[in-house]
Amino acid sequence: MNGEIPLSSFATALMTAGDLDEGTLCPEKLVSDLMNGHATDFVYNTLSLSDRRRHGVFFSGASWAKKILAGHDLTGWQRFVDPSVGVGDLLLEVCRSLPLQKTASETIRDWGDRLVAVDLRKSFLDIAWMRIQALAFHRHAAEKGQSNKILFKELPINFLVGDALEIDLQLTTDDCVVMNPPYQRIQAPENSFVGRGQRSAAALHLEHITRIAPPGAGIFALIPDVLRSGSSYAKFRIKLRNLVNVISFEPFGAFGTQADIDVAILVATSKPPEEAPTEPQPEVSNEQCIEDFFSVSVGPVVPHRTPTDGKPYAYLTAKNAIVGEEIKVASEFATYSCRIERGPFVIVRRTSSPSDKKRARSTLFSSREEALVENHLLILKPKDKKISTCRRLLNVLDDDRTDAWLNHRIRCRHLTVGAIKSLPWIED
Ligand SMILES: C[S@@+](CC[C@H](N)C(=O)[O-])C[C@H]1O[C@@H](n2cnc3c(N)ncnc32)[C@H](O)[C@@H]1O
Repeated sequence: MNGEIPLSSFATALMTAGDLDEGTLCPEKLVSDLMNGHATDFVYNTLSLSDRRRHGVFFSGASWAKKILAGHDLTGWQRFVDPSVGVGDLLLEVCRSLPLQKTASETIRDWGDRLVAVDLRKSFLDIAWMRIQALAFHRHAAEKGQSNKILFKELPINFLVGDALEIDLQLTTDDCVVMNPPYQRIQAPENSFVGRGQRSAAALHLEHITRIAPPGAGIFALIPDVLRSGSSYAKFRIKLRNLVNVISFEPFGAFGTQADIDVAILVATSKPPEEAPTEPQPEVSNEQCIEDFFSVSVGPVVPHRTPTDGKPYAYLTAKNAIVGEEIKVASEFATYSCRIERGPFVIVRRTSSPSDKKRARSTLFSSREEALVENHLLILKPKDKKISTCRRLLNVLDDDRTDAWLNHRIRCRHLTVGAIKSLPWIED
């Protein structure tokens, strides 16, 4: 399998850190180093970033693992399944609340029966299993005062090397899937409800689990926020809700420095077949939204790409359109040969981050001239062609509730046409 790491080099790293002294195995130090990201540092220092990006090797760490499972009672499930386990952060978090048996050895046997793990790399499974056993020893020492030498056992038969999209996991109704799947883009198969072409691997992994999970199985998933909020995953969300009961699906901000992506956490249970509607249900709302008053599009001018053999027109760019101001007469002209738009309209910057004070930063173009608009801007044209409607829109965009709505709906750093269209028309 790609880029395996010999387990012996991980053991050597632990010995160098003083964790695995010959004969005097010290669970406390070993477990604390294993828990504190030692395994993750080791993998990240051993594999190249390009290899990790290619296979989505970005681990949750203890804090994401806690967030994913926080506040949920896990006692109802018999087995816990991580179909892309990495070095086991999510299963470790699960094991913190699993019951202990009489001895560490019996606990390890019990956990081996109750955990299922899959990864493309055997070395990750080995490290994950080693960490889980270290936790068992640690908990027996801390909670029962039993201190034993650590004797690592072989991988349980439920720790499988392979492709999670192909392995038959034989999930049962008592299983709970905990997953932070790979996020890189991969080719979607023909029959996928995730869409066509290159799509987020996370969406395909989640789709696979929802298709094979029997009714009642639990699903906890840390996934890219675009799956929750992006317009290109709207159909995916409809299909997903046909297959699972969503308990919560919330944005959680940036994953971390190594993977610059916003994430969301889905908590759901698989639906019984009779509850699954045959037809997709549209995401409906009775509220009036921007789309009821405005057509929304992306500015068509891509400098250096759009041909420049057209007639001269007013040209609006992210640079010359000052946020919060009104343009009565354009100050710049260009000859791009593409779609032109007649004023009045409002332009909104596409670049927009949850950390910005205002998410929809806008400028009113109040002229009735035709104009070219750069691709970094969204164009919101009033259906009634009135400047007064544009001014009402500016108030809506400036409202704090709009920021809150956008922050909830879209965590990624670009406003999408879909999000702006469905933005509620807030007027007191
Ligand atoms: C984002 S990491 C998450 C690991 C772990 N679940 C966690 O939360 O830390 C994704 C893991 O999936 C593995 N992986 C990538 N593609 C896979 C596939 N098709 N089947 C199984 N595992 C895969 C990678 O090796 C990596 O360990």
